[in-house]
Amino acid sequence: MSSAPALGDRALFPTLAARSYLAHCAISPLSAPVHAAVVEYVDSYARLGVGALGRWLEQRAALRGRIAALIGAHADDIALVANTTTGVTDIAFGIDWKPGDRVVLFDGEFPANVTPWQQAAATFGLEILRVPLGGFGMPGHAPDGLAALRAALATGVRLVAVSAVQFQTGLAMPIAAIAALCKEAGAELFVDAIQAVGVVPIDVSVGVDYLSCGSHKWLMGIDGCALLYVSPHRSAALVPRLGGWLSHEDPVGFLMGASPLRYDRPLRARADVFEGGAPNGAGLAALGAGVELLHSLGVDTVFAHVQRWHDAIEPELLRRGFVSLRSPDPSRRSGILALRTPVDAQALVRLLGARGVVVSAPDNHLRIAPSWPNAMDEVPLVVDAIDAALREYGGASAAS
Ligand SMILES: Cc1ncc(COP(=O)(O)O)c(C=O)c1O
Repeated sequence: MSSAPALGDRALFPTLAARSYLAHCAISPLSAPVHAAVVEYVDSYARLGVGALGRWLEQRAALRGRIAALIGAHADDIALVANTTTGVTDIAFGIDWKPGDRVVLFDGEFPANVTPWQQAAATFGLEILRVPLGGFGMPGHAPDGLAALRAALATGVRLVAVSAVQFQTGLAMPIAAIAALCKEAGAELFVDAIQAVGVVPIDVSVGVDYLSCGSHKWLMGIDGCALLYVSPHRSAALVPRLGGWLSHEDPVGFLMGASPLRYDRPLRARADVFEGGAPNGAGLAALGAGVELLHSLGVDTVFAHVQRWHDAIEPELLRRGFVSLRSPDPSRRSGILALRTPVDAQALVRLLGARGVVVSAPDNHLRIAPSWPNAMDEVPLVVDAIDAALREYGGASAAS
């Protein structure tokens, strides 16, 4: 089998059971190269034990650079952490807050980008402000999101935390414009990018200070690892309260006899200060393989393919009584086509699943989330499955 990925070709997913897999915004199925990387990892430890470590340390060093290239960053500014939440928590507990500092969050955010800020607020006496999302490009809303954010920033805000793509609606936030407002107001910007990296082009050089992104969605790895970007302009000012034994300068010298055991080595003033203990090596092996697939296709190409897919299915769904939440502004679109459904969304997820079409519907927003392996000719198949599911739903509710 060739390991080169091709748009609309699922040859690299030979065991994928679904006829159409449209839940990349939830959990990506494993491609053959990702599967093989995990097998190689566990096999190498089965054979060599500690002797396998060197090879995987090299893999991680290379991975930083490949991840950095996906988001316009430098390898030194990437930490490999456990999940998106850990990245949020590291920063939420790593800023030298003053009591009363204000943090802006957005209504409707995924809780991973809320709870750690609430915890930090309770710990450090911060004030949380909330800004509505609608005005950032949702259909039927006045485009007043940036004005609302500017008004919030004018009250004196220390940090804005936002998801690059909103998990329920698929709204892609205007990160460059938000970064510009933050800069103007002297606020820091944290981005949860798990719904963007790998499908929506994103570049931290527009003024993102921190970015956290788990590996099991559009990066197509497995769960249990994530990347955390920390701007080199911010790392020295952080207080890495959650650092661990690997956070020090020269953390492993004592293991090889290169330097004596000490507890007073300084903590690194770099992103990888948040790599406090042994990582999820199998997950990082998987992430490496997933990232290579994306580099070989190009994220712009994946984005364009996904938009074509959404363009093809959206009118079919509108004709059947679904209400699209896709932004009328193409620059606010993402890998998620979200819709309000004419019938109970969770029932629809089950009925479609029974027909081999895998979708997700958090908080009753149906999400159609294809990625590069989805072929355009899956669209009629999915439409047929939706028709059959709606008929079955109608039949069952008429009978009850
Ligand atoms: C916007 C967003 N952030 C974070 C997560 C998950 O966070 P974690 O990687 O910590 O599980 C999800 C989905 O699971 C999400 O949609």
